[in-house]
Amino acid sequence: MAPMRVVVLVSGGGTNLQSLLDAGWTGALGAAEIVGVISNKPGVRALERAAAAGVAARVVDHRGFAERAAFDSALKAEVQSLGADLVVLAGFMRVLTETFLAGFEDRVINIHPSLLPAFPGVKAQAQALHYGVKITGCTVHFVDAGLDSGAIISQAAVPVLDDDTEESLQARILAEEHRLLPAAVADLAAGRVRREGRRVHRVL
Ligand code: GAR
Repeated sequence: MAPMRVVVLVSGGGTNLQSLLDAGWTGALGAAEIVGVISNKPGVRALERAAAAGVAARVVDHRGFAERAAFDSALKAEVQSLGADLVVLAGFMRVLTETFLAGFEDRVINIHPSLLPAFPGVKAQAQALHYGVKITGCTVHFVDAGLDSGAIISQAAVPVLDDDTEESLQARILAEEHRLLPAAVADLAAGRVRREGRRVHRVL
């Protein structure tokens, strides 16, 4: 069977991208193959990680577009030119519109650093600390046109400790992200994920 071609969208450090690349090396991604990385920001560490792994790395700089739809169209063209079967948002800090998502139903996923639906949007770790929750975590979900609102594929919980800072909490969540995201991609590639409305089941 042909591998599932995965394109990863990034905006920054790319530690989640690295977890996917590493999982590719060890075989933990199963039938999925990372075939390209696209950043909306030039010069970020994630692009260096892609280059070091020998994966095609491109930039579609959102600042070059006056309108969101034009950026989404250009981004989609790059994703399609890489022959993507699955698009993974791994620290990609732009909201995608229907312009991008049309034709990609259930083929775009995102990792978010909270237990959604709590704390969507930016600075989820700071939001959790500010609210005072005792447990937070991370979520892998399908992407729809809302803000972190698509059907949930998988979640992992971590404790919030009394002396946590944003940085310490972020590190604890990231460790779980690096486990959860490759596992979700492998499950999708193996056909082990079935969505029925908002409910997503893992089938064997
Ligand atoms: C990760 O914590 C990811 O969940 C978060 O950005 C970080 C990227 O780290 N994404 C969002 O907040 C999306 N709303 P990375 O670049 O090292 O993978």
